[in-house]
Amino acid sequence: MEKIKVFCPATIANISCGFDVLGLALEAVGDEMVVKKTQTPGIRITKITGQDLPLETEKNVAGVAGLALLEKSNSAFGFELEIHKKIKPGSGIGSSAASSAGVVWAMNELLGQPFSKLELVEFARQGEKIASNVAHADNVAPALFGGFTLIRSYSPLDIVSLPVPPELYATVIHPQIEVKTSDSRKILRADITLEKGIKQWGNLGGLIAGLFKEDYDLIGRSLEDHIVEPVRSLLIPMFDTIKTEAKAAGALGVGISGSGPSIFALSRGKETAENVSNAMEKVYLNTTLDFEVHVSGISSTGMKSI
Ligand code: HSE
Repeated sequence: MEKIKVFCPATIANISCGFDVLGLALEAVGDEMVVKKTQTPGIRITKITGQDLPLETEKNVAGVAGLALLEKSNSAFGFELEIHKKIKPGSGIGSSAASSAGVVWAMNELLGQPFSKLELVEFARQGEKIASNVAHADNVAPALFGGFTLIRSYSPLDIVSLPVPPELYATVIHPQIEVKTSDSRKILRADITLEKGIKQWGNLGGLIAGLFKEDYDLIGRSLEDHIVEPVRSLLIPMFDTIKTEAKAAGALGVGISGSGPSIFALSRGKETAENVSNAMEKVYLNTTLDFEVHVSGISSTGMKSI
């Protein structure tokens, strides 16, 4: 194989109670990327559509992630990338992760799969590092593994794939403002109280148990964040109203997608997820804010060739 076209899914990191450790991949939202094997060594980005992003390999998250893989492989080949961005940077649904994870997944396919998914996560994290100053893996892991993933440990990296209850749907609304992950990390406190810790790990355990048991009510009860959401939600217009309206429309739970400003809801069934989408939309339609809204299943595969 000389060339591959890839769907790179958008992802929801944190999922309320799992800051930096939980994430899920979306089925219906993502970038596309075309990666070609060449005789010229190195990585060249030949085209980017949809967003104004750097073509210089060392300045582009996909370029950096690709170089990290190339450094560890004995390959004499080089690669050319075309990136078609559908996910806006700074939207909170894993734009940099889609690019970083997409390129390493595609290169691994073209080289005959010499690397494991865990190794691909390590390469992709290098792209995340230049995007947000932190090599967090909670977007690139679900993008590469699909479904829900838990980062059980960062050092050593230990990733657990979690089951996806079949009726679970996500609704994501993106108010058209940009929040940089690096900025929204700076406003967080470095320490937490024991009282908040107890609530948070109760919910994290509850959410994971809910996924295994396909217990939608337990999933909903566990979608609470006592640590990050109270701080970051101040950056998101009408966050509390959207949350209240989405829950009234039937959402199991609502939270900030990654570092925001997108807000996600999880629902049981597509119809409910669409009702939630309408309820969220209504809130922003009463303002002058532009927004985008998506309803999506959870992608059990993550990256895929198209
Ligand atoms: N866990 C990261 C954060 C995800 O919340 O900063 C960024 O998408």
